[in-house]
Amino acid sequence: MNTAIIVAAGNGERFRSEVPKQFLEINGKPVVVHAIERISAAPSIDAVVLVLAAERVAEFDGRRADFPKLVAVVEGGSTRAGSVLNGLNAVPRGCEVVAVHDGARPLVSVDDIEAVVGKAGETGAACLVAAVTDTIKSVRGGEIAATLDRDKLRRALTPQAFKIEILKRAFELSEVNDSVTDESYLVEKLGHPVAIVEGSARNIKITRPEDLIYAEAMLGRDP
Ligand code: CTP
Ligand code: MG
Repeated sequence: MNTAIIVAAGNGERFRSEVPKQFLEINGKPVVVHAIERISAAPSIDAVVLVLAAERVAEFDGRRADFPKLVAVVEGGSTRAGSVLNGLNAVPRGCEVVAVHDGARPLVSVDDIEAVVGKAGETGAACLVAAVTDTIKSVRGGEIAATLDRDKLRRALTPQAFKIEILKRAFELSEVNDSVTDESYLVEKLGHPVAIVEGSARNIKITRPEDLIYAEAMLGRDP
């Protein structure tokens, strides 16, 4: 039995909309609903835990019939990692692999979900990644310090998937704060290798208003 945790309890400060970005609609449906539907369409996922801001919990809890794999709707924390931890505490017993997904990523493909969950089942920990297309510089004091080797860099996407005991141990051993922006980081600190799964670059996180335009254009297409 595998579970997905979808975190959607953020304020979307960089997006700067009145309604948090994950509740803005694309093609008549909130971004987070696209994420729930894509995750639910993955055969490897048996159950979904949804993490929301307190004022949204009752609404989605009342919509369980719309999302048959949804087993729990829980309140988020003040940081993303805190929200993931609350979700982790609501994962049903008997779960083998847990996949953590951003509610702000509505374009994830079923193939990518299956690949990362499958890899985590084999290795214990797997992170969906995409290539970096720009040349990346490290900077210091208003100057370029170095040019990084792009072939060795990847963007970390979600889902990121782990055997549940590994993710639980990673959370037990680390402090949960704002510097923790993904789960792989915690598992890396644990010293457990995290396998990479090359995913689609289309699986963007809605972060700024222009991302919503891109998502709208892409949602109608085949993944
Ligand atoms: N998230 C969450 N709980 C938090 C912060 C973030 O569940 N306390 C979720 C967001 O809702 C989003 C995902 O984590 O689906 C990725 O985070 P991010 O894109 O950074 O969203 P926000 O934190 O809401 O945006 P910003 O950083 O611009 O404020
Ligand atoms: Mg954030």
